[in-house]
Amino acid sequence: MFTRILYPTDFSDCSKKALEYVKELKEAGTMEVIVLHVIDEREIETASTTIAWLGETVEEYEEQLINEMRSSAEEKLNAINEELASAGIKANVRLIRGMPFKEILRIAETEDISLIVIGSHGKSNVEEMLLGSVSEKVIRKSERPVLVVKR
Ligand SMILES: Nc1ncnc2c1ncn2[C@@H]1O[C@H](COP(=O)(O)OP(=O)(O)OP(=O)(O)O)[C@@H](O)[C@H]1O
Ligand SMILES: [Mg+2]
Repeated sequence: MFTRILYPTDFSDCSKKALEYVKELKEAGTMEVIVLHVIDEREIETASTTIAWLGETVEEYEEQLINEMRSSAEEKLNAINEELASAGIKANVRLIRGMPFKEILRIAETEDISLIVIGSHGKSNVEEMLLGSVSEKVIRKSERPVLVVKR
């Protein structure tokens, strides 16, 4: 039933918890897991605005920041890939730059995903919030089933 799983991660504690459920879903007939991390456009924008204020060259700074974000994410994605492989699950990693919720929804459609496994919260993990803004939008707009793992 859940042959193709999309597991979007921001590498937060809550999304790490969600990975444990992804592994368990092997028993439900999972054939492949797509592990997705989106380098958040807005994070780059915010950092660049601060840098512009400090009078630094924005272009150089942005390029360096994106490279750092990319290599740090690649390392973490590879570790997850290995973790899934040793659990006997075939994984495929994706690293994309954009708006997280939009990319999650787009990949769910283009890759014909049967289930999205997402954390209720992520890096911000604000105590008063029932859901993070990414998970809230994914749940609201997705046409595919979504499994939300609570923090
Ligand atoms: N950049 C991202 N790439 C891939 N998945 C993400 C990304 N950001 C969030 N997610 C997914 O969405 C889940 C919920 O994170 P979300 O960002 O909504 O919560 P938050 O960080 O606590 O709140 P907010 O971002 O609204 O301040 C995460 O556990 C993860 O599964
Ligand atoms: Mg977040």
